[in-house]
Amino acid sequence: MSTKFSDIRRVTTHQLQAMKQAGEKISMLTAYDFSMARIIDAAGIDIILVGDSASNVMAGNETTLPITLDHMIYHATSVVKAVERALIVVDIPFGAYQGSSQEALRSSIRIMKESGAHSVKMEGGIEIKESVERVLSAGVPVMGHLGLTPQSIYKFGTYSVRAKGQIEADQLMEDALALQEYGCFGIVLEKVPATLTKKVAAKLSIPVIGIGAGPDADGQVLVMHDMLGINKEFNPRFLRRYADLHTIVTGAVEEYISDVKSGSFPSDKESY
Ligand code: KIV
Repeated sequence: MSTKFSDIRRVTTHQLQAMKQAGEKISMLTAYDFSMARIIDAAGIDIILVGDSASNVMAGNETTLPITLDHMIYHATSVVKAVERALIVVDIPFGAYQGSSQEALRSSIRIMKESGAHSVKMEGGIEIKESVERVLSAGVPVMGHLGLTPQSIYKFGTYSVRAKGQIEADQLMEDALALQEYGCFGIVLEKVPATLTKKVAAKLSIPVIGIGAGPDADGQVLVMHDMLGINKEFNPRFLRRYADLHTIVTGAVEEYISDVKSGSFPSDKESY
């Protein structure tokens, strides 16, 4: 029986590349804390993204803009302690790399040094060339992020599907090729037509990880809170829910409250 790349103990950027070449799909999920990171790592996920979506699902903000570098390092540090196998990617948050490539390098070094994570992710295409190259020159692997880039939400005004027209699609392809040329080890492609994802994934030698980008990406990523059904309000077409934790947790908490009120918890067996 042949060994699949998903059996390999510690996932590296080189293994992700080999997975793409071998046609083995790459699995990626977000995590922001020790306990959940431990579960998804033990389940065999290939990449854990400490996403700035923590701003939404952990801190309750409407956008990803308010989360700070210190917050991201706090989340990443908790995740790193739990993970034995997955490659850990950490989002550099809004305002911590757009100023200059020096700022991008400083932020990346803080993330790597203080959290122990393995790589960083930045949103943008050709406009982040200098930052990608400078961060890479310090030995920090960089992942790109194109299509719907939530840190630019106020520039675009909506969370709708990106690159539906030819001009935007051509620009996205150019950006993807540029990020590969600058040295990115992979690219997240968010909310773009499936036909475009297919073309980008076929053209690039680095892995393309899709979210709302159709089946032809080299891998898929979802926000953990969304796919576990913790977050009931968020219902985009691309989201598949693998559990209904909202209902399960509500039921458990209601039962606990009822047991406390009735005096049936704790029992003699649960007491010292
Ligand atoms: O922050 C995040 O969770 C992300 C994913 C949506 C890819 O960037």
